[in-house]
Amino acid sequence: MSTFKAPKGTYDLTPPDSAKYLAVREALSAPLKNSGYGYIETPGFEDVALFSRGVGESTDIVSKEMYTLTTKGGSELALRPEGTASVLRAALEANLHKLGNLPVKLWYSGSYYRYERPQKGRYRHFSQVGAEAIGAEDPALDAELIILADQAYRTLGLQNFRILLNSLGDKECRPVYRDALQEFLRELDLDDDTRRRIDLNPLRVLDDKRPEVQKQLVGAPVLRDYLCDACKAYHEEVRDLLTAAGVVYEDDEKLVRGLDYYTRTTFEFVHDGLGSQSAVGGGGRYDGLSEMIGGPALPSVGWALGVDRTVLALEAEGIELELPSATSVFAVPLGEEARRVLFAKVTELRRVGVAADFAFGGRGLKGAMKSANRSGARFTVVAGERDLAEGVVQLKDMESGEQQAVALDALVAEVQQKLA
Ligand code: HAM
Repeated sequence: MSTFKAPKGTYDLTPPDSAKYLAVREALSAPLKNSGYGYIETPGFEDVALFSRGVGESTDIVSKEMYTLTTKGGSELALRPEGTASVLRAALEANLHKLGNLPVKLWYSGSYYRYERPQKGRYRHFSQVGAEAIGAEDPALDAELIILADQAYRTLGLQNFRILLNSLGDKECRPVYRDALQEFLRELDLDDDTRRRIDLNPLRVLDDKRPEVQKQLVGAPVLRDYLCDACKAYHEEVRDLLTAAGVVYEDDEKLVRGLDYYTRTTFEFVHDGLGSQSAVGGGGRYDGLSEMIGGPALPSVGWALGVDRTVLALEAEGIELELPSATSVFAVPLGEEARRVLFAKVTELRRVGVAADFAFGGRGLKGAMKSANRSGARFTVVAGERDLAEGVVQLKDMESGEQQAVALDALVAEVQQKLA
């Protein structure tokens, strides 16, 4: 223990658990790599205005949860609370939308920061794998992303998740609905904070979980009744494509999501074993975001999946990932001469691509064998003075317990052959 601890709302990933996080990141991104999405990486901080304009001044993320800072040079920056605005900013800056065919399909993985009240599944530093498909209005693209997220969760073995689906309409029909909703909400008995939200972001009022509010919301106008024909047709097509792909979803007309940039398709993946922080992933279409941050019209769609919550979901379902052991061969030298010889063999093994490790620190045989066991290595190589005098090492198969003397010169080839 040092004097310091990880800051509130954060935690460290340490071995052996950290291997599980790496495997989850890999599994969540694998379907994207396989579907034409290219990797993008952007800075951990951005101009604060990118988020206030993009994600929306009235959202909790921007108004309460951003880590902002002023640099010594006077720039106003924010640690990124989400990835979509950054990725779109970077794509525009690199002119990706002009270089090739649209859509530009991108995936990313990294750390995000929100100053939220910490609880299980809700952290101030968390990790997402995300995807953005920029510059195309095509229901098949919305469907593709939902199908790929579903595939990612299923390859991990998850079963107890549900997909909630909604359409938020577009710039034609949403304002009409917004007016109708505001008119309805203004007649209700609500506290001052909620009244303010009626003006700023009335759709978020529908999200209010308090029973006294929910009770009054019965009979509120429903967005579905206000969707224009184009939005309705688009949504129907997304639903049909999902059904054709065998992806089961639930229509959830109350799903509004906490970011202002969404238009039309929105969706969330919720896991039933996680309690209140049940959203393991979410996303949707954001046809107006590019223009909101000063770019051309580029209708787009994307999602982000939470790595931390996906790991919690695996635990909730009791799923143990099968992680290949990191080390194949563990070398245990007995004596100074053996140290030099086996260290050279470990280097040789590594150079031909065999994962190998070595008993460092000059401990005795017992301690070294403990390390060998803990490493999960399939083979140990033990050698002492007498072995070396005969030009051999002892190769032990940790699974079968069998041990054989192998000529020093033949060791690398022998190990390669046995592992193949
Ligand atoms: P989001 O719903 O804010 O969407 O976050 C996506 C996922 O990140 C959540 O479903 C959750 O699993 C995880 N997450 C969010 N906040 C936390 C937290 N404090 N602690 C742990 N996990 C968290 C977005 O970020 C959008 N950028 C998604 C998107 C991409 N929409 C279009 N493209």
